[in-house]
Amino acid sequence: MKKSEVRSRIDKLRQDINHHNHQYHVLDNPELPDSVYDRLYQELVALEKNFPEFITNDSPTQRVGAKPLKQFDEVQHRLPMLSLGNAFNEAQMEAFYQRIIDRINATEIEFAAETKLDGLAISLSYEDGKLIRAATRGDGHQGEDVTLNARTIKSIPLRLTGNDFPAMLEVRGEVIMLKKDFDTFNEQQRLDDNKVFANPRNAAAGSLRQLDPAVTARRPLSFIAYGIGHYSDDIQFTSHSEILKRIQTWGLPVSGERKVVKDLDACFVFYKEILMQRPKLKYEIDGVVCKVNSLTLQKQLGFVSRAPRWAIAYKFPPEEEITKVLDIEIQVGRTGALTPVARLQPVFVGGVTVTNATLHNLDEIQRKDVRVGDTVYVRRAGDVIPEVVSIIKDKRPDDTRRFKMPHACPECGSAVHKFEGEVVYRCTGGLFCPAQSIQSIIHFASRRAMDIEGLGDKLVEQLYREGLVKNVADLYELTKEQVAGLERMGEKSAQNLIDALKQSKDTRLDRFIYGLGIREVGEATARALAQYFGTLDKIMSADIEDLLEVPDIGPVVAENISAFFQEGHNQEIIRALRDTHHFTWPEHETAASTELTGKTFVITGTLSSMSRDEARDRLIGLGAKVTGSVSKNTDYVVVGDSPGSKAEKAEKLGLTILNEKDFEQLLSKYS
Ligand code: IVH
Repeated sequence: MKKSEVRSRIDKLRQDINHHNHQYHVLDNPELPDSVYDRLYQELVALEKNFPEFITNDSPTQRVGAKPLKQFDEVQHRLPMLSLGNAFNEAQMEAFYQRIIDRINATEIEFAAETKLDGLAISLSYEDGKLIRAATRGDGHQGEDVTLNARTIKSIPLRLTGNDFPAMLEVRGEVIMLKKDFDTFNEQQRLDDNKVFANPRNAAAGSLRQLDPAVTARRPLSFIAYGIGHYSDDIQFTSHSEILKRIQTWGLPVSGERKVVKDLDACFVFYKEILMQRPKLKYEIDGVVCKVNSLTLQKQLGFVSRAPRWAIAYKFPPEEEITKVLDIEIQVGRTGALTPVARLQPVFVGGVTVTNATLHNLDEIQRKDVRVGDTVYVRRAGDVIPEVVSIIKDKRPDDTRRFKMPHACPECGSAVHKFEGEVVYRCTGGLFCPAQSIQSIIHFASRRAMDIEGLGDKLVEQLYREGLVKNVADLYELTKEQVAGLERMGEKSAQNLIDALKQSKDTRLDRFIYGLGIREVGEATARALAQYFGTLDKIMSADIEDLLEVPDIGPVVAENISAFFQEGHNQEIIRALRDTHHFTWPEHETAASTELTGKTFVITGTLSSMSRDEARDRLIGLGAKVTGSVSKNTDYVVVGDSPGSKAEKAEKLGLTILNEKDFEQLLSKYS
């Protein structure tokens, strides 16, 4: 190869590698298998090795390479890196808004609302598109030079893309560790007997402030930009939202969870939406930030002490708190699993008072070394069951008590057994065990199964303990008088329950299968079974080989399904439900039914004519799949009112977007 050819091959490889890096680390949308990417990377490494004169500092091969530092240099920020004022409730947000209105003559203020990322602030300086410096926030005026470490973070571009960026640009944002990266990283730390971090923020901070860049390079860090600092005057911006949009086009990652809203009330709506999404987000957040969108107004408003008047952090309730373990008890689940549960000194966390937290299983208790009497971190994220995260060893008293797994089920006295390949201990009592029976009835009645309104956990337990119901078929023998005779039950609620039971018989095959509570058959598997076989009889008579033909069903699940339907007791209950109590469902259209069969939908925003759940059910009924996140494999994105970032992502990916009217039209073809 001629030297000029080598040069252009190197340029091309760098361009391609940067592009794929961006797809992978910023857009989370890889276009190449890892092996092909690795081949490109190795080709570049080899060429640079043979032609070292072509190596440049912004080559993707040069992210790590520096030697450990003795200490970080100090960096003076050209513009101070400010902090944010906090609000913890709507009243404090209203006060923030009022302060703005008092200063500028306006009745309505447009805000840019976005997530408040829980990591640590960093400033990235780009000169002619090249990353020349990275600095921590420090005291806001002076930070530490962490350029070598920042260069190892793959979502930080070493070079901006495009050609319309300013000659000098300082980008500000947060270095974070994604939840999934934190879990894997922390687990590895634990296995290696290294320091375990309490949360992703600490892990990110600890990783960025390493004197040896090679250590930082091994930590799975990410970066998300939320604004800019100093920039040269060859560019002009008018609003915050415009800034984020433009820096995104230069290859910088910005959060998808952001929205321009027209007033304070819309900030509240955004806050609630994000609070709901919080457990599902890829990164930790501790609130939302509302920023006055217009830069002219921002300038007018200015700062007070170290925080801008034009922005505020509206904080979420903390997801973690400290409390004490009063006792460890056993809960027996639907499948007989014995779950140790910590009884806690009541503590307000994640917006509710928590008194119990799961300890998952014996392995977990031993790994975390939780004992009765310990002081612990408790976590409650969204609707997820509260859990004990870790103990605080310094606070351990002398008289703690270790937990022992019982040999007999505390509910029915049957033997407790640990099956091969499982971590959980199980009660072997089956439906002889009241706890298992009660849980299986609760599951059958639950919203995503038979959706029997008014039949909650407490009532099921009452019905069972009174001897009125032993299995799910017995529910349909109940009379109004029997129900009304129960403690705390009136005539009216009894009638409502009887009506709800009657209504629940009109169902869908996949819901019915899911409701049976076959081990490891969740909604998706139930749907796959219904779609593949079409009728209950076919599912019941399928052998293991037939079951293995169903997409996503493996040997263990196939075995569970087959064993379930061979069990005489289960057959009897199904017969009672179907033949005696006349459960019905529309015959499933199998295979080549509609143009929607097998198509993947995402629904975002609020629909006015139906709830999202209803929309989802309709689509599933037509053989479509409904998932929670947009990717290039999504076929349609249904966009309702106040859609989230999913709509934007869909647009970016060029997917088919349906507004509510389009969606209704599509459904009407099949109604
Ligand atoms: S704006 C002048 N936006 O929160 C405004 N900060 O409490 C300065 N943070 O030091 C910051 N997410 O590290 C802004 N979307 C966001 C943010 C955010 C997280 C952090 C940032 C800042 C701290 C202030």
